Amino acid sequence: MSMWRGWTGATQSSLVDPRAGYGLTQAVYDGLMGHRVKDNHVFTARMCAASRCLESSRRDRLFADPVSELLAGWEGMEAPMGSWILIPRTSYGDGVLQRAYHTDARTAARQLVLLGAGMDSRAYRPELNVPELRVFEVDHGENFRVKEAILQHPAVQAAFPLAVASRQVVSTDFAEAGQAEDCQPRWARDLCAAGFDPGVPSSDGGPVACGCAPTIASHWSAGPARSRQSAAPPPPSLAKGAGLSGPCDRDGGGPARIRQSAGAPPPPMANTSAV
Ligand SMILES: C[S@@+](CC[C@H](N)C(=O)[O-])C[C@H]1O[C@@H](n2cnc3c(N)ncnc32)[C@H](O)[C@@H]1O
Repeated sequence: MSMWRGWTGATQSSLVDPRAGYGLTQAVYDGLMGHRVKDNHVFTARMCAASRCLESSRRDRLFADPVSELLAGWEGMEAPMGSWILIPRTSYGDGVLQRAYHTDARTAARQLVLLGAGMDSRAYRPELNVPELRVFEVDHGENFRVKEAILQHPAVQAAFPLAVASRQVVSTDFAEAGQAEDCQPRWARDLCAAGFDPGVPSSDGGPVACGCAPTIASHWSAGPARSRQSAAPPPPSLAKGAGLSGPCDRDGGGPARIRQSAGAPPPPMANTSAV
């Protein structure tokens, strides 16, 4: 029996009801809330969504993330991630994105890469006002098995239309090394194969990659790519002033180079330190 009773439950009496106006029937709502993930890493994403859901329900909220309740599900709502880190992290990431988007037209960010996107729903938050943005969500396939089952439900699509130009999910594993010839980890190649264009200004601000940055960093330095460590710079979200550059080879042959801060001029990205 779930401890989380939903927004109309007695335990939530101090909260407003973010479900008002969603138009979901109780049966659809219950079905969507009942999805479960089969991986502990992915479960942490549900915990994060639950924390954003609770913040969204506050009268003095810092942001509104209305689809977060469904993305958390019953299992996430029973174990929200600590709000002390999740709420400022989300709010800070929102600010990084908006500053990168609403800046000088030449360098304005039009791509957002969410490394370890989890149940992030920035693509569905119209108040961010980033309509031309192309969003790339990078995470485990198991994350997207559940996330897409929720977001692609017709009732959810009607209630929460996409608020950006496009949204692309990228199923990958940060632990997997890439091909020997270019030293790229799998996720970078998968990202390029999904249509990420290194020539278009992007915002991969650290806060949107948070929660998995240590995972990526540890795999990068101590994982299967160890033998190529000397040739491989850190991934872009972990290196201030660095980013993917050069053409992506969608046939899998050529390099999607990672520019080092000491080399080429600074890319038009809004990088911040990962936390
Ligand atoms: C703590 S959650 C953070 C989710 C999201 N950034 C947020 O703030 O809501 C960490 C995310 O990293 C993903 N992750 C962890 N290890 C991974 C790996 N080896 N490959 C792909 N994704 C991974 C998990 O699936 C999870 O969605």
